[in-house]
Amino acid sequence: MTTTSETTLAPVAEAETTKPALPDYLVDTYTWAYLRPASLLLLDNPLVVSSILWGNFRRLMRTACEEFVPGQKVLQAACVYGSFSESLARTVGSEGSLDVVDVAPLQVENCRRKLRYRPWARVRLADAAAPGGGPYDGVCCFFLLHEVPDSHKRSVIRGLLDSVRPGGRVVFVDYHKPKFWHPLRGLMSFVWRRLEPFAFGLVDTEIRKLAEDTDAFTWRKETYFGGLYQKVVAQRHPTA
Ligand SMILES: C[S@@+](CC[C@H](N)C(=O)[O-])C[C@H]1O[C@@H](n2cnc3c(N)ncnc32)[C@H](O)[C@@H]1O
Repeated sequence: MTTTSETTLAPVAEAETTKPALPDYLVDTYTWAYLRPASLLLLDNPLVVSSILWGNFRRLMRTACEEFVPGQKVLQAACVYGSFSESLARTVGSEGSLDVVDVAPLQVENCRRKLRYRPWARVRLADAAAPGGGPYDGVCCFFLLHEVPDSHKRSVIRGLLDSVRPGGRVVFVDYHKPKFWHPLRGLMSFVWRRLEPFAFGLVDTEIRKLAEDTDAFTWRKETYFGGLYQKVVAQRHPTA
């Protein structure tokens, strides 16, 4: 695997100066969750994050982080409440680097605060569909896809796949269609209908089918907790 000692950090100045506007879908659907200071107070809390994921936060964070190794240059596609970024920063370690991008200035500031003791991690304003700063050894997209409209899902997937070097991995951890017998199936459907309408475009479709240029990657998928969650790993062929 290529490590940061073999790759050079690409300049991000250009990406940093092209500030993305807040997307309409975020303002219209997720102001309550991401765009108010009170949202941070309420939601950026390990207990809340763990409850929202039915006790699976640590397990899902672990399964995402285990796809990366110390010394890598890794991109995280959006801020996440709780300790996810700290964990990913610890995984790559001070020999590596972590770039976190997000479209919301409030989230960028909050994540910078959480990562202030990890100087090899930086957080900047960018849309995951055009993150800049690549190529990366690895990319991690944790629970972002279900929150973006379907056309933007494709743009984000394209932007992330384009950001990884030959041999590198893009790791998606997100919701998945639960098994027919899952006791939470009806409740999750209700929650998605009410609060997270773009989730249906993810659970009803394979992530791989939303991607272009799939032949340049080897794909694998695992599901967890009765199929409610998935990890999809796209590894770019060494020559692609
Ligand atoms: C990763 S998702 C959801 C994570 C999870 N629900 C949690 O506990 O935080 C939330 C973040 O995605 C960001 N976001 C939404 N659309 C984005 C995009 N196109 N590019 C980058 N960040 C985006 C939001 O601003 C928000 O900070």
